[in-house]
Formats: sequence, C-alpha cells, structure tokens
Amino acid sequence: MEAVKTAELSKVYRGKEAVEALKEVNFSVAKGELFTLLGQNGAGKTTFLRIISTQLLPTAGKASVLGYDILTQPEQVRRYISIVPQDIATYGNFTPWEYAYYFSMLRGMATSKARDAAERALRAVELWDLRNRPCATLSGGEKKRAIIASALSSDAEVYMLDEPTSGLDAVARRNVWAVLREMVEEGKTILLTTHIMEEAEMVSDRLAIIHKGSVVAEGSPEQIKKMTKEKFRVVVEGDLKALGLSGNGNHVARFGNKNVFYIKDEDEAVELGPFFLIFSKASLSMPNDSPIMKTKNPREASNRNPTAELSKTAPRLLFV
Ligand SMILES: Nc1ncnc2c1ncn2[C@@H]1O[C@H](COP(=O)(O)OP(=O)(O)O)[C@@H](O)[C@H]1O
Ligand SMILES: [Mg+2]
Repeated sequence: MEAVKTAELSKVYRGKEAVEALKEVNFSVAKGELFTLLGQNGAGKTTFLRIISTQLLPTAGKASVLGYDILTQPEQVRRYISIVPQDIATYGNFTPWEYAYYFSMLRGMATSKARDAAERALRAVELWDLRNRPCATLSGGEKKRAIIASALSSDAEVYMLDEPTSGLDAVARRNVWAVLREMVEEGKTILLTTHIMEEAEMVSDRLAIIHKGSVVAEGSPEQIKKMTKEKFRVVVEGDLKALGLSGNGNHVARFGNKNVFYIKDEDEAVELGPFFLIFSKASLSMPNDSPIMKTKNPREASNRNPTAELSKTAPRLLFV
C-alpha cells in the first residue's frame, strides 16, 4: 500500500478570478521513500500538501494517505502524519524544547520516548543549546528549525514538509537533509516540497516536477536528469559583458555575478576554451594554464579550479 496516492486530484480556488491550482494530479509515494515535489513559486505545492494533510478540500479527484481516504477518513489520516507548514508561526512563550517535547506528549507518546525524540530532533537541527529560549527571542531560521524539530520528534509515519529549508543557511539546510535521510533509512516516509533543484537532487529517492498545477515529470533524480538535453553546466563568476562576452550559442543564465552555461557534451565544453582564455586575461582568478583547456574530464576540471566549475549535473537540477 502506498503512503500517499492521488488520482486526478484537482483544485480550483474560486474568487474574483478562478485559479486552477492543481490539474488532475496523479502520483504515489511509496512507503519508506523520500519523495520531493519540486516546483517554482505558485506551482501548486502548498495546495497539494494542504489537501493531502486534510487542511483543504480538493475540487475534484481522490487522495489517500496510508490507504485512508482524505475526505472520508480525515481523522485516521491525521493520526499518522506530521506537518511542517510553509508559513510557520511560533507562540512567543514556547521554547524549542516545549515544542519538541510537549507536542509529542500531546500526541500520546510516552514520557521517556518523547524526551529522547525531542533531544534527538533538537540536536539534529542544532537547537539543543537554545532549547530553553522562548521562541520570540529566536531568529527566523531558528524558529523554523524549532518547528521542524517539533514535527520530526513526533512518531508519525508520514512527514509532510512544505519548503522546510527555505530561510535556512547552507549548514542548517544540510543538517536538515541529513536528518531526513536518517529518518527514511529508519523506515519513515517523507514528502517534501522545494523550489531548490539542488535540494531535490541531493535528498530525494524520487521526485515529481510540478508546473502550473500539473505534474510534468516524475522519477528518480537520475531519470529526471536524463530527460534534459544539456548534460553539463559551467559556472563562471564575473561580468561577462565587461569581458566582451555574450555567451552566444550557449544557453546562459545569470544569478547575481555568476553565469551558468548549459552545454550538451564534452566537446562543446572544450569549445568554450577561448572563452576561458579571455577570462583568464581579465585575471579573474583563472590561471592561464586553465585545466579546462587541457582536460575533457569535467569532474577533474571542477576539482582543480573552483571558479570554473564544470559538473555533470543536468541544468534543470541546478541551484547556484
Ligand atoms: N487561497 C487562495 N486563493 C486563491 N488562489 C490561491 C490561494 N492559495 C494559492 N492560490 C494560487 O494557487 C496557485 C498555487 O499556489 P501554491 O499552492 O501556494 O503554490 P506553491 O506552494 O507551489 O508556491 C498560485 O497561483 C496561487 O496564487
Ligand atoms: Mg508553497
């Protein structure tokens, strides 16, 4: 039996203008896997999670969690799930310890088990030292981690986390990934949403890409990567225009002062050679004997020169 299964799940928000937030979404999450719903803002991720966690009614279609129908057996569904909503609100006087410990007790966990679970979750998100501080005095990221710890310390079967790592720094984000993977190894099921492609790639067993309410791709990170034409990315720091470069002929995306070229194969990467020569003349920390010029092995190049990173990562799964 699947942990989560939906059939033609649809949601239309009716207001002044009707918004079709989900369009006949079909997918299933197996028990014991970490499944990620990857999509841009407005894709429908939160709507989906709110429906399957019984907080919002669908317009059409069906969904079940551990075999329990979300419409006819919502109490059963709630018994087995734990949720981290996208927009968290903490109550000022509660401390992270109270969130993690008392909420598990409220769910009926035995005292000693609740203590152990709370400690483990708070340590995992590196809040142990701050566990007795009122949440009102914590930073946004710390509050978020308190809520994550609270959700993780419950003994739910299926965890639903809506962009849990947004607002966290790189270290905190990796800690959260680590604890999620640990929980999956222990047999829990996790359904995560993110707009961060790297996150989906790093942490998921399987993922679905949702775009404007429709699932457009589904599979393992490797399968998803194979669906894209370009196989490599080259990340270059600096202003390309100042260097007289336009990135013509290659798909290039800009993120702040980083330029990301998407290329199809090693040959195309090597063809970028002159580009890197010019780059080095501008002395932007690219040595003249740029390894990119000499090697066809992208991994080698990326190890040797951190400013020009050539990695075998599908562009759709890129985060810079
Ligand atoms: N309460 C609401 N009323 C009307 N439209 C909404 C409501 N909530 C979300 N939407 C719309 O539904 C779409 C999906 O939103 P959401 O599920 O929040 O996406 P995501 O979580 O992927 O960013 C968006 O176009 C959004 O504007
Ligand atoms: Mg959302």
